[in-house]
Amino acid sequence: MSIVASPLDLDRPAAGPRPLIDPFARAITYLRVSVTDRCDFRCVYCMSEHMSFLPKADLLTLEELDRLCSAFVAKGVRKLRLTGGEPLVRRGIMTLVRSLSRHLRTGALDELTLTTNGSQLTRYAGELKDCGVERINVSLDTLDPDKFRAITRWGEIDKVLAGIDAAQAAGLHVKINAVALKGVNDDELGDLMAWAHGRGMDMTVIEVMPLGDIDQDRLAQYLPLSIVRARLAQRFTLEEIDYRTGGPARYVRVAETGGRLGFITPMTHNFCESCNRVRITCTGTLYMCLGQEDAADLRAPLRASESDEPLYAAIDEAIARKPKGHDFIIDRRHKRPALARHMSVTGG
Ligand SMILES: C[S@@+](CC[C@H](N)C(=O)[O-])C[C@H]1O[C@@H](n2cnc3c(N)ncnc32)[C@H](O)[C@@H]1O
Ligand code: SF4
Repeated sequence: MSIVASPLDLDRPAAGPRPLIDPFARAITYLRVSVTDRCDFRCVYCMSEHMSFLPKADLLTLEELDRLCSAFVAKGVRKLRLTGGEPLVRRGIMTLVRSLSRHLRTGALDELTLTTNGSQLTRYAGELKDCGVERINVSLDTLDPDKFRAITRWGEIDKVLAGIDAAQAAGLHVKINAVALKGVNDDELGDLMAWAHGRGMDMTVIEVMPLGDIDQDRLAQYLPLSIVRARLAQRFTLEEIDYRTGGPARYVRVAETGGRLGFITPMTHNFCESCNRVRITCTGTLYMCLGQEDAADLRAPLRASESDEPLYAAIDEAIARKPKGHDFIIDRRHKRPALARHMSVTGG
């Protein structure tokens, strides 16, 4: 039996909604969903201390978020990441996780995961695992309680560390995400990495991105990862490896610890050529690129009809506008963010 598609097969319309291929032939298989823009922390690089949040009346309900995510799954998305704001502070969040987990059981989805600040994990880790979540990212920039408080403004490190314990005890694989902050945690990243690797967790370091007004000087926070890497290389042996997760991180293996270390360098490198992802906000706005303003409203087509056809059409139209890449610049003269919206709206 031939497994090569005949020209006739290719002419035939595919069953179900069309998969998502953008103008640069990138297949969109990864959706990040910001389920709330609210958070129990106020990290200095992410939010200002006095944030105004989206009006609650504008939020999609959990049922609408489920329908929106499921439409993307029907269109070929294989990986869903819930983020925020802090996803675990959205009321009823586990109802959404449990409901979305049906796509794991049917095989339509390869992975359901989330990025969290860890503050609520003692409460939710077991249930997440029970819903089929296998891996989570926990953001942690320092192990020093005072620095942690200074960075997060409102966070308590003990709760986060207890959350990481609970996640590992529940059998979740944890990856640590740390934002490199000049003069704040740059001297500590080696210790943080050794701690993470010692507990069997990979770590990724992230460059500060100029998103949203934060009452702070971006330039003062910005630390190119080339410098971080050079410093780490003085203490550790960083071995190039081919490991890729389909995302922007480039990984090395650390010979002394055996763990993996990722670098996400939006400012100094362009990682867009293999971009397979799009983002939706908790109000149903689709962003085709984290680093561009262009967006599409999916809430109106979602609410306009019980049929998913208008939604599929709106998604197709938006993906046809996915840009080739971002163009982040930290504006040195005006100290303006490159983009007005905060990371907590699109979820990073
Ligand atoms: C916006 S948070 C949302 C999920 C959750 N609250 C958390 O902190 O993990 C997602 C990730 O974005 C990172 N982040 C926030 N603002 C950033 C910025 N301006 N530049 C780079 N990373 C940022 C955070 O450190 C976190 O790892
Ligand atoms: S980085 Fe995450 S934890 Fe920190 S303020 Fe932003 S959304 Fe909250």
